[in-house]
Amino acid sequence: MGESLLHEDAAPIEMDVQDLHKSFGQARVLAGVSLTVNRGEVIALIGGSGCGKTVLLKHLTGHHRAERGKVRMCNHDEEGSPLVDLATLSEDAMDRLRIHWAVVFQRNALLSGSVLFNLSFWPSEIKGLSPEQIQPIAVDALRAVGLDPNQLLERDRDELSGGMAKRLAIARALVMDPVVAFYDEPTAGLDPEMCATVHDLILKTHHTMPAAGVRRTSIVVTHDTGLLRRLAPRVIMLADGRVHFDGDFDSFIGRDDEHIRPYLEQMAVLHRRVPPDGPEEH
Ligand SMILES: Nc1ncnc2c1ncn2[C@@H]1O[C@H](COP(=O)(O)OP(=O)(O)O)[C@@H](O)[C@H]1O
Ligand SMILES: [Mg+2]
Repeated sequence: MGESLLHEDAAPIEMDVQDLHKSFGQARVLAGVSLTVNRGEVIALIGGSGCGKTVLLKHLTGHHRAERGKVRMCNHDEEGSPLVDLATLSEDAMDRLRIHWAVVFQRNALLSGSVLFNLSFWPSEIKGLSPEQIQPIAVDALRAVGLDPNQLLERDRDELSGGMAKRLAIARALVMDPVVAFYDEPTAGLDPEMCATVHDLILKTHHTMPAAGVRRTSIVVTHDTGLLRRLAPRVIMLADGRVHFDGDFDSFIGRDDEHIRPYLEQMAVLHRRVPPDGPEEH
């Protein structure tokens, strides 16, 4: 069904997008996006508000179908993890791919109900795990994000603070032990301390080997320049419906153009205003 491709440094290709187009009515959002991600990479997907980052992410996860162009993703449910064209898959086949992914949504998208219910839903629905199998995994995931399972498992979603809800959203991704982790603006609206905690969680999760035994790939949609500096990822920037920049973090901060400058300025400001021992007094 699919072919296996090897990148020149022998890391297999995890996802490949070619000439992707998407419009909503008259509004063209993606106008020929092409990118290739190798297994094990951390990618920061950046770009101005409304430029199509979430729309692109939804194409990668099969929630939008390509209008024109091709999205191919590895199917980790098959021997050899072949790349498959998402357009050729039935919903059932798509679900088999999703077993190996997890998404931390922009607005957390927690389900109404308890913390345990939120942690159980996907493992139960997607992986078919029983409550007895899920319980210890849920406890471990909460601990991994710094939440106390004894206090929180039975708590209602609506009783959580913003920071706790974000941690729970990440714990919900961890219980899936994904080969590919997608994060959509994981630090939006959080205070600097919680941002740093989330950065560490993303890095820690990235470097933990999934049970499937293949390296994890992390795709992080972000505006957060602190996260960029901390993860020093490969940066892919969208602008005007296309990939405007694709390269390592060092080349990114060495480049100066109208789209990149605002990020560099923000980083310079952060650098000036936040010395290592804490923010300056005002
Ligand atoms: N389901 C939809 N229907 C109509 N327009 C949409 C839909 N989803 C996204 N858009 C539009 O597509 C553009 C890109 O959105 P999005 O990918 O969410 O931006 P961002 O880069 O901030 O994540 C925006 O102009 C948004 O209004
Ligand atoms: Mg978005």
